[in-house]
Order: sequence, then C-alpha cells, then structure tokens
Amino acid sequence: MYKKHYSRFLAARPGLLHCAPHSHYYWPDVTRDAQLRYWDDSAAMADDKWGYLFAEKVPAVQQGIAKILNLTDPQQIVFAPNTHELLYRAITTFRYGRDLAILTTDAEFHSFNRQSRRLEERGNVEVVRVSTEPFATFAERWRDAVASRQWDMIFISQIFYNSGVASPEPKQWLDAVRGDDTLIMVDGYHGFGALPTDWSPYADRVFYLAGAYKYAQAGEGCCFAVVPSNHVFRPEYTGWFADFSSLAKPQEGSVGYANDGMCMAGATVDLSALYRFEAVLKLWQTEGLTPARILSYVRDLQQAFLQHIDTLKDPRVNRDTLLAHDLERHGHFFTFRWGNAEQVTELAAHLRERGVATDFRNDRLRFGFALYHNAEDYQQIEFD
Ligand SMILES: Cc1ncc(COP(=O)(O)O)c(C=O)c1O
Repeated sequence: MYKKHYSRFLAARPGLLHCAPHSHYYWPDVTRDAQLRYWDDSAAMADDKWGYLFAEKVPAVQQGIAKILNLTDPQQIVFAPNTHELLYRAITTFRYGRDLAILTTDAEFHSFNRQSRRLEERGNVEVVRVSTEPFATFAERWRDAVASRQWDMIFISQIFYNSGVASPEPKQWLDAVRGDDTLIMVDGYHGFGALPTDWSPYADRVFYLAGAYKYAQAGEGCCFAVVPSNHVFRPEYTGWFADFSSLAKPQEGSVGYANDGMCMAGATVDLSALYRFEAVLKLWQTEGLTPARILSYVRDLQQAFLQHIDTLKDPRVNRDTLLAHDLERHGHFFTFRWGNAEQVTELAAHLRERGVATDFRNDRLRFGFALYHNAEDYQQIEFD
C-alpha cells in the first residue's frame, strides 16, 4: 500500500524482505530530492546558507516534531548528529567530577550503557540498573526505585531496544521523583514516529531524545532533544551554536547560553539530514500519516506475521519465544529469544540467504515491520 514511496530503496535491493527497519528504516523517495536540494541550496547561497537554514529549515522541522509530540514550544527542540552527543552534553551540566547517582535500566542502548559504565570508572558515579524482566512487574519496581532516594539523573527508554517492550509512561512514576534538580531523560528513539506520543505533560521537566534514522525514515545525522523548559541548562561541553544570537557581543567573562533548547546545541553540522527529515514530515502530512495511522498499519502487519509463524510451528520463532509483555504497549519490532547467540546468528544468516533481512543481539532475533511491507510478504519467510 505504501511501497510506492520507497521505490528507490526497494529497487536497489530486489527480492529482499527488509525486516530490520527498527535498525535503519528505508528512506522514502522524497528524501533523495531533498538531499539534492541541500546541494543546490548550498551552491546558490554559499555562506548565506546558514542564515536561511536557521530562519527556515530548523523552525520547519522543529514545528513538525512539535506537532507529532503535541508540544507548544518548538524552540525547545535542539538538533545534533546523534543522540549520544545530546546525552553527553546533558551529563556535563553537572559540575565536573562531582559525585553522581544515576538510575536507569539494564536494557538501555549502547550509547547510554557504554557511557554510563565509563562514568562509573570515575569511582564516584553510582549507576543503579533496574532489571526490565520480569516485564510484568517492571512498572512497579521502576517506580519504587525512582522513589527510593534522590537521584541526580534518571534515564530510561520509551521502548527497550532489546525487547520492543514499552516502558511505563512518565505519568506512572514522575511524581515519585525526589527533588526538582534530577535530570530526567527518556530515550524515545524507538517511540518517535512509531507510537502516538503526547509529550506536553512532560515538556517542562523531562528531556526526550530521538532521531531520524529509524521510524522518521530520514537517515542518519538528524537527532534531537526536547529540552525541558523549566530550566536553563549550561552544559560544559558546549559549542558556539548554543548562544548563536549573542555572538556579536563581546565574548568574555562567563559563558552565555540561549534561553531555549539551543542552549544544548553544539557546533557546525551537515544539515542535509534536516532536509530529508523535513521531506518525510511533508510526505506524512500529504498522506495523512500520523504515528497512530502508521501504528495501526504496523499492528496489522504484526498480526499477519504472527499468523504466518503459527503455521510454520518452528521451535525457535513462535509466540512462546516472543519477548513481549503486552502487544498493545509494544514497539514496531518483535524480539524472539531462544538457545544461544550462535544459534540465533545461524538462523539470521539462513533467513538472509533466503532473502529475509533481520537483525540480532546476542540470543535475540529481531523482526521489524515497516510501511514498505505488505501483509502477504511474510509468506516468504521459512525457517528450514
Ligand atoms: C534506543 C536507542 N537509542 C539510541 C540509538 C542511537 O544512538 P546514537 O544516536 O547515539 O547513535 C539507538 C540505535 O539503535 C537506539 O536503539
């Protein structure tokens, strides 16, 4: 139904059923024109391009994101090439070297997991990781952990990357946070564009991190944070874009920051990804594609996929090995766990030979669902 929008990626990989959109989504055709437009605008405007980008393109994408997240203040959105940069910048809002107590889960993506483990090596950073399993009791255990003491930072994914399970919404635990200074961040990478998300109740308090190479379909280089509006952040890891409008003033004394989301900005970046992101947002608008509509299409695909694997009766990939708590509160990919990493790698390689691209993490095989699938495509999947 939506394949026509992805004709170039589909034609470039004929016969392949791409079940890894949760890793890298195919880019719709409109993004190619957008990329070329960036080149043409760069040629036409040269140095003047930056004024245009900040006056036109940045606000257009900020507004598009704000609409999806139901935010009233698009200027609180800041861009960066990846979420790690925004995460680390936020961490440097704490005075360098001070003791830190961080609460998180055992299912955070490498950007945070690796960074937080490295911080622990300082010796005065304590990181408590709440186990996401059993999923059925996670919401309660998470809330208890949030309430258990005063945390300097709380970090949790909206959808866990290694299971597809949705975490409890902040309204289920935010009131348990002790103290107004706790830096709270939700990694929304698997939620943005995938699940209807109303961030307005949290916009003054909680960072929301996401990016464009998954469900926003615009490729790498365009991540963003919704920066809480109740606070002016002064990250130590700061770039000159963080106070762009004051650069004509004398640059001496204490370092100034923008009083909106730009306070978390870095420095010169390739903004071609922003053009691609804008093109996707426009496509969604013309097609009437909202996260709710996309989700409903994906839920139908997921049901078709489950019905197909029921018929295959495979001991490895079936409803019993599916890691899920509640399929209604679940992301766009399914995760199956069985055996060991070697067996999972072997099955992924076998599927790839038969034209089905998946991805795997240790003993987990992930199947993702995308707008460029039709329900009947899953008939192609065989495990023997
Ligand atoms: C949950 C989650 N967060 C973040 C990222 C990307 O991180 P970064 O932008 O730091 O490369 C991914 C990528 O797969 C992810 O799954």
